[in-house]
Amino acid sequence: MVLMKGVDERGLVFYTNYDSSKAAALDACEQASMLFPWNELDRQVSVTGSVTRISDEESDAYFASRPRDSQLGAWASAQSHPIEGRDALMQQLTDVTERFGEDPIPRPPHWGGYRLVPAVWEFWQGGENRLHDRFRYQITVDGGWQISRLQP
Ligand SMILES: Cc1cc2nc3c(=O)[nH]c(=O)nc-3n(C[C@H](O)[C@H](O)[C@H](O)COP(=O)(O)O)c2cc1C
Repeated sequence: MVLMKGVDERGLVFYTNYDSSKAAALDACEQASMLFPWNELDRQVSVTGSVTRISDEESDAYFASRPRDSQLGAWASAQSHPIEGRDALMQQLTDVTERFGEDPIPRPPHWGGYRLVPAVWEFWQGGENRLHDRFRYQITVDGGWQISRLQP
């Protein structure tokens, strides 16, 4: 699970650690799906497309907008890598806190955003007796969308 932090005509943006397990998978595959479930409404939206790292400038701007403690957390954690205990993690936080003091905290080079560029959207609405409604929007070569109703 990640937080979607941006959406516009270029795609959907989220942020993570570029040395994490998920980043390795995304960089290798360059394709991903996102699922937005609303169990209470019996609905979901899924999006599939290509994924690329966003520009350093865009990541810098978002990182600069984050609370200072979150900025320190991004420096303190080597996401997805084993650590011997929580004390060691807290020590890493102490180390980076002392290192930056009162200075502005730059974006770590190993932290930034990805943008998923949608090729397929699917809107799913649960129905009685599992006869759900599904509508697939698939991008066409001329940049339009082909819309199909799918069987549940
Ligand atoms: C509500 C929620 C929001 C999260 N948002 C993010 C996020 O925006 N970025 C991120 O890297 N991890 C986020 N996480 C943690 C990830 O789900 C995941 O545990 C972490 O990124 C490590 O994944 P990996 O080791 O598979 O790369 C979130 C977790 C939860 C429960």
